[in-house]
Amino acid sequence: MNISQEILAKLDALRNAVAGLPAAEGLRHLAAEFSGSIAFSSSLGVEDQLITHYIFEQDLPIRVFTLDTGRLFNESYTLLHKTNQRYGKKIEVYFPKHEAVEQLVNGKGPMSFYNSIDDRKECCYIRKVEPLNRALQGVQVWVTGIRAGQSGARQDLQLLEWDEAHQLIKYNPLLNYTLDEVWDTVKALQIPYNPLHDKGFVSIGCAPCTRAIQPGEDFRAGRWWWEDNSKKECGLHAK
Ligand code: ADX
Ligand code: SF4
Repeated sequence: MNISQEILAKLDALRNAVAGLPAAEGLRHLAAEFSGSIAFSSSLGVEDQLITHYIFEQDLPIRVFTLDTGRLFNESYTLLHKTNQRYGKKIEVYFPKHEAVEQLVNGKGPMSFYNSIDDRKECCYIRKVEPLNRALQGVQVWVTGIRAGQSGARQDLQLLEWDEAHQLIKYNPLLNYTLDEVWDTVKALQIPYNPLHDKGFVSIGCAPCTRAIQPGEDFRAGRWWWEDNSKKECGLHAK
């Protein structure tokens, strides 16, 4: 289905409504308009921790969920626990289908993602994409922590986008924030964050597929570092 005139008009109206608003206010606006059908996917990275803070502190009717691939860093699980405790709420956790993981690991071994791009994408599909699709069922607005500064491809995204793959509106409230702005707020508000960020990990995904970057290296250089830059998406986002 192509984007209809009705959706285009809706997107335009929403863009006008949130243009220039700080993320916390933009989230409030969207939550009021889409109460019950708006959800935030948190990877527990620093950007996402800030969004979670805005949602939980303001008690917004936005579902917050994370995709537990089964291969996350221990630090990420600890952070999930700490975050739930800090806000007295529970981030929903979606798991992959156990039959699919069993078939994958028993068939190809526990490290199949290093074999080829196809094998890596197969693992990402089973552990992230399929659970995301389930988590987004019935959702009209999907909130993400994407920032334009995270990669070249993300620079031409907009605050509100039509997501063709999931047939919903995607809202990236921190799109135009710099990493420094995110960190300043996270530190000022004492928002819990993943200690791996202090060790050079900027973008944190699964443990076997994420490493720290060196000063001056590209933001996403630590994700699937053995692959060509143009292939580095896991299928959650088109960019
Ligand atoms: S990815 O495409 O490389 O995996 P990235 O780590 O940049 O994504 O994160 C971008 C956004 O995707 C996050 O802000 C978050 O909204 C969503 N996301 C990524 N990983 C997860 C996850 N494990 N659980 C929930 N949301 C996630
Ligand atoms: Fe599998 Fe790595 Fe993708 Fe995680 S990032 S789902 S371990 S291939």
